[in-house]
Order: sequence, then C-alpha cells, then structure tokens
Amino acid sequence: MPLGVASSFQAYDPYPLFMTDARGSRIEDADGNEYIDFDMAFGVLAAGHSHPILAEVLAGRVANGTCYTFPVEDGVLLAEEIKQRFGCDLVRFSNSGTEATMDAIRVARGFTGREKLLKFEGGYHGHHDDVLVSIQPPRELIGAPEAPVTVPASAGLPRSRVEETVVAPYNNAEALEAILARHGPEIAAIIIEPVQFNIGVVPPLPGFLERVRELATQHGAVLIFDEVKTGVVLAYGGATEWFGVKPDLFCLAKSIGGGVPIGAFGGRGEVMSVIERIPDRAADPTTGLTHSTIPGGATRVAHLGTFNGNPLSMAAGVTVLTRILTRDAYPRLSAMGDRLTAGCQAVIDEHSLPGYAINVGPKGCVMFTPSRVTNYRDFIGLDSELWAASFFYLANRGILLPPGPDDQWTLSVQHTDADVDRYVSTFRDFAAELTA
Ligand SMILES: Cc1ncc(COP(=O)(O)O)c(C=O)c1O
Repeated sequence: MPLGVASSFQAYDPYPLFMTDARGSRIEDADGNEYIDFDMAFGVLAAGHSHPILAEVLAGRVANGTCYTFPVEDGVLLAEEIKQRFGCDLVRFSNSGTEATMDAIRVARGFTGREKLLKFEGGYHGHHDDVLVSIQPPRELIGAPEAPVTVPASAGLPRSRVEETVVAPYNNAEALEAILARHGPEIAAIIIEPVQFNIGVVPPLPGFLERVRELATQHGAVLIFDEVKTGVVLAYGGATEWFGVKPDLFCLAKSIGGGVPIGAFGGRGEVMSVIERIPDRAADPTTGLTHSTIPGGATRVAHLGTFNGNPLSMAAGVTVLTRILTRDAYPRLSAMGDRLTAGCQAVIDEHSLPGYAINVGPKGCVMFTPSRVTNYRDFIGLDSELWAASFFYLANRGILLPPGPDDQWTLSVQHTDADVDRYVSTFRDFAAELTA
C-alpha cells in the first residue's frame, strides 16, 4: 500500500497507529495502549464505538445477508427519517460522503443545465475531481479574496475539470457577491460546509449563510449544504436546523451509519426528481434552458451504485437515527462539547497559550492561532508545531485526537463528563510543562 495505509489521511509521522479494538468512548492500539477516543473516526461516531443496540442489530443483519442489490424496507424507513429531520422531499443513498457530494453536484448540473461549481476555500467535500481544489492551498497561490485562484489539491486532475470549479473565501459575503457577479449565470451549484470543519472549527459569521442562500437564489444556483460532518451531529436536523437556513440539496455520510459505510443526499423534490426526468425548460423564462444545453441530450441524471441502499448500511442508519441519536441525545452532546471547550479555554487563559478553544455542539478543537479564524486565509497562520506538540503529548497520555490541526474532536453519546474532564486535566499538564 502506498504510504502503508488504505487512505492517505491515515498516514502521518512518525507512523500511523494500528488499532485493534474499540468500544464506547475507548479505542485500543496494536501495542495494547488504550485511549479515550476524541477523534471518533474523523467524526463518524456520534453514536460511539459499537453501540450495544447497533452491535446487536448488525449481528442479526449479517446472519441474513449483507447485500441484495434489491430495495429493502430499512431503506424506506431511513429515507423517511431523513426527510423528517431535514424537511426535504426526496433522498437517495450512496456509500460515502465523496459519493454523496459527487451525486448532488451532478443532480444540480442536470437541474440547471449549467456546468460550473462554486466551492469555498478550505472546504473539503471528498476526493472526486470537482471538489479536490483549494482545500489547503499554499498562501502564495491563492490570489486576492475577490478573485481566488482555483488550486488543485492533487496531481492527476484534468485542467478542464479544475477550471469548472470557481472558488470563494468563506465568511466573506462581499467577495462572494463580486465572484457571482462575474460567474453567476454559469454556476450550477454552490457547495458549502455550513461550519468549516476541515480547517479546525470555523463557524459562519452572523448572516453569512443567510446571504449565501439569498445569492444562490438570486443567481439561479442550487445551494448544497455538505452536512457530512454536521448532519445528525450538531442537532437532530443537522446544521440546517442549527442555523435555520435551508439549502436546496444536502449531503450526509459519516455519523448516519454509526461506523458502517454510508452516504445520502436529498432535498427539494423539484431538484432531486431530475434523477427521474429532467424538466423541459424551453418555457422557463428565467433560465431559457432547453435540453439541447445538456451534453448528449440526456433526459435524466444517472445515480447508480451496486452498494447503494445495501441492507447492512440501511439497518445501521435506521438504528442509529431512530434508537441512538434521538432528539433527546442532542442537549447532552452539546453540553459535553461546551464543557470541554470551557475547560480547554480555562487552561489557555491560565497559561497564556496563543490560541482559543471553540466548539459547535459536540465538535470542537483548540485553534492554535493568536486571533479568531474566520476563513482559510486566517487558518494559514496556525502554529502547527504547537498543535503537534499537544497532539503527541495527549496521545502519549491516552487522549486521542485526529492526527491533524485541520480536524476536531467529536463527542459521542457514549462519552462521559469524566472523559471530558480527563482531556482537560491532561491538556492542563501539557500547558504547565510547555510553559514551565
Ligand atoms: C465535509 C465533508 N464532506 C465530504 C467528505 C467525504 O466523505 P468520505 O470520506 O466519506 O468520502 C468529508 C470527509 O471527511 C467531509 O468532511
């Protein structure tokens, strides 16, 4: 395996930990060290590791077949549950967040008959070509805020694809307006992580998401919320509920499956139904689009996948959403997140560390930057040496965080206040040793 791992996110210096067991809030490595897990598989596990209810359901499911490629009732129940939480009309399933955003973008293109995508700098939406740009570009390449440069995040991306994605700085409504004034009529979709959770924790400034919503409508672009990290984690109805701003489409993955591979996307019936038939737009006075604008003249958007809606993932999803991450789980998750942030902030204040603690619900982190980060351009100033010192100090004392300053802690329904307090006390030891 290149780098010795299955996904390049798993590779880091000096070597990745190999894990053998996990239950509740604990995970154990191949050397027998136990950690309180605050990484929770990059935020997959708001239900915690092997929740007893889920473990029982999945054991029963495995004994009855794990893949049929025929629809199953649990898929219908899960779609109904997602509809209720997100107030949408139609849902489809995939196997990962990458597939969910890829499919949602294709639906948006089919619906609008347009080709360009707008994403925000610092946003990660998976590893397909359209979105693998301007994730953490080098400062010298990013250009001015009103005209950011689209910077490939991987070799192997065709230039023609890179050119299809327009980039805007997050939390900068004026820059977005200027960019849309230039590209508006070509933009099929605006994709956004409502909270930027791939550069630490960067919440939207007051009014920003509302303005993005208005501008998307004004320019006839489909607004896609990438709720892969936020959905069913921040709140029962994800960031859509937390911020009270409704997208046209949203993408889910990670925590909806409790650790089983899954993805989903859904939204307005009018948009999603291009999977059945692209509407005839000849008579549409606002867009003036006709089928002839769609390459090849296809009359519907393909959404396919052997594993889509497989019985194992559907059983996991229904169980997690209806029996574990129920409405009453969220106040406690948020309270634990607030407790961890308050504890870390107190340590930062006591020891005058350059940084601050921040959370949105059960997801948070210590940002090692002297001032508040509002978008990727501020994040570039993060002290990665200080972050690394804290990561290893904590890991060597049984507190496991994601292996990068761009990720954050995720608390689960199986974490306790005692787990949170142990993190804070270990962080206090770190700060004391560092400043001694
Ligand atoms: C916001 C967001 N979107 C999409 C993805 C891609 O999801 P996956 O890794 O399941 O393909 C991620 C993964 O971290 C993510 O954080």
